[in-house]
Amino acid sequence: MWYESVDSTNNEAARLISSLDNLSVISALHQTAGRGQRGNTWNSDSGTNLMFSLVLKFGDRVLPVLPATLQFAISEATTLGIAEFLKRYGISARIKWPNDIYVYDRKICGILIENRIRNGLVSASIVGIGLNLNQETFPDNLPNPTSVFLESGKVSDIRKSLEYLLDDIGKYLDILVSEGYADALRVPYLKKMYRKDAVHLYIDNLDGHEFEGIIRGISDNGCLVVETSDGFVREFAFKEISYVIS
Ligand code: BTN
Repeated sequence: MWYESVDSTNNEAARLISSLDNLSVISALHQTAGRGQRGNTWNSDSGTNLMFSLVLKFGDRVLPVLPATLQFAISEATTLGIAEFLKRYGISARIKWPNDIYVYDRKICGILIENRIRNGLVSASIVGIGLNLNQETFPDNLPNPTSVFLESGKVSDIRKSLEYLLDDIGKYLDILVSEGYADALRVPYLKKMYRKDAVHLYIDNLDGHEFEGIIRGISDNGCLVVETSDGFVREFAFKEISYVIS
């Protein structure tokens, strides 16, 4: 379903969810109130980039029941699918845990996943994706943006690109389902992780202090596992840690 303009494709998906089929897609050329993670806004030039929400409904033959404890699998399938899509352009992308896609130190795509949990199960998920496709310049207040065009020199057809991207995400959802969700995508996710096994600076958001650490992986429930310089291994939930990116 394509919209000229909508407040946010995630909002629209949430409003319509009870009448939408599993795997429905709400896509827009323009958002008036695009939302990002941590309460941020998401700004994107009109008609230039991909902005859409994929609706996943669990508990049928296509997407069997997903325990809430395994919900990070949705993020794994989405991010790996996006990385695969970017490979079509020769772009080698990395996954910045939990939900950003980076090319070196530049952000090319942001993801806002909103899950509905009922009785310990994910009943539905709205996977909102903003992928910078053809945008050439960005506002100065965005720290480190890039786009498919800036990385590859190629201008893309927005609607075709959406089809390819949905195919790529679909392939990873199929793997998840055929392997019963748990651990199915952990190894490829770890292989594509931004900054894994290298020393970098982070901020512990609980006390605001900056520290040197090495990302070692992901815990079973999707927390970031970081080895600190004093040899401790710590787990961070989303919002508990920030990356220092110069
Ligand atoms: C982030 O990096 O903070 C996440 C950005 C997610 C943006 C997309 S654009 C389509 C969908 N609709 C929204 O309002 N947000 C997501």
